Amino acid sequence: MRTVDLIHKKRDGVELSAEEISHLVEGYTNGEIPDYQMSAFLMAVFYSGMVDREVSVLTDTMIRSGRSLDLSGIPGVKVDKHSTGGVGDKTSLISAPLAAAAGVIVPMISGRALGHAGGTLDKLESIPGFRTDLSLDEFKAQLGEMGLAFIGQNSELAPADKKLYALRDVTATVESIPLIASSIMSKKIAEGIDALVLDVKVGSGAFMKKQVDARRLAQMMVGIGRRVDKRVQALITDMSQPLGYAVGNALEVMEVSQTLQGSGPADLTRLSIELAARMIFLAKAAPSLEAARDIAQRKLVDGSAYRKFKQVIQAQGGNPAALDKFELLPNATGMREITTPRAGYVSVINAEGIGNASVRMGAGRGRKEDAIDAAVGVILEVKVGEKVEAGSVLCRLYYTKEESVEEAAELVEDSFRISGQKPDERELILEVVG
Ligand code: URA
Repeated sequence: MRTVDLIHKKRDGVELSAEEISHLVEGYTNGEIPDYQMSAFLMAVFYSGMVDREVSVLTDTMIRSGRSLDLSGIPGVKVDKHSTGGVGDKTSLISAPLAAAAGVIVPMISGRALGHAGGTLDKLESIPGFRTDLSLDEFKAQLGEMGLAFIGQNSELAPADKKLYALRDVTATVESIPLIASSIMSKKIAEGIDALVLDVKVGSGAFMKKQVDARRLAQMMVGIGRRVDKRVQALITDMSQPLGYAVGNALEVMEVSQTLQGSGPADLTRLSIELAARMIFLAKAAPSLEAARDIAQRKLVDGSAYRKFKQVIQAQGGNPAALDKFELLPNATGMREITTPRAGYVSVINAEGIGNASVRMGAGRGRKEDAIDAAVGVILEVKVGEKVEAGSVLCRLYYTKEESVEEAAELVEDSFRISGQKPDERELILEVVG
């Protein structure tokens, strides 16, 4: 089988067989297929798509590229949560401790920053000492002991996704429904879960810009899960403006700390509680969704989720004191304010623009080998719908490299629209699938 022929076929919209998909995924994972051919194949999938049968085979081949965890020795229902990627989306760091504090076992495999969107692993690694490279034995032991552990993909769990994810990030092939669905579901199924809550983002800061595409992605992932007997539910949520106020790794950890102590932004708090409630409900730890919401809310208010997060940070080698003393987190050396020349209502904060500005300052990657600068990012001072005066600060850019800030500032300025009319309110949670 020649790889070039398969690229040709997919480019021309022809359905691939299971053997052909396995040849590509296995060949790339073991280094026989080079980056340039895989990049061309990914671009062909981006344009030609895949039918459900191909996506199932792709997911299955990616699962089989590594080990599958058996968590049956740990009592309790195992439920994870995953987002399709957004700007300022730090809900995993809040909903996972909320659910774990309610008795759910949460094995969380997270990804790195992708395109303009942040990654949970990079956020966690901004906490000094935090290890996301636990061995699978360490991961299981921690899950058994405290009900929550965070891990990145490694050479054992869905290694094909790890390699493909890094390549997609730098070849503009992220925004593809079959590639996102197989990426997420392969690592989630490999980690041995019973149920999964998905947060499918839609809007300018999401990979899906239209609700119809977000719905299709949600349905595809719910379908993949059902075929392997997992309970999967997806929320479709708004990502037209960043979630919360903070964008950038250490800045987001600070906002997580505030939110887990009950003083976080309203949108972030609401969505984190809803996601945690769905995890609690799918784990059958509450008789109804309403009861699950009450439990999640209580775990926030009584501080038990905050304590759980600190316990996990300590167990994974991090310094939990960094959640109280932000000077222990990486801090930027420079700050620039962006102000508005005119008064009016904030009608748009383009999340993709804010995400891209953050990436330019170093919060994400331009090339596979680039390192992340955990200190940099953007803190919004306003959200859509707020009234501003001429000269008001819209946001602050935190940077460490002077040369990156000019371009970032331009991107940020272009991301705001101020208009004379108050914009209509947009729902945060748009739909539930599954
Ligand atoms: N999250 C993932 O894990 N994979 C994707 O492709 C997009 C978001």
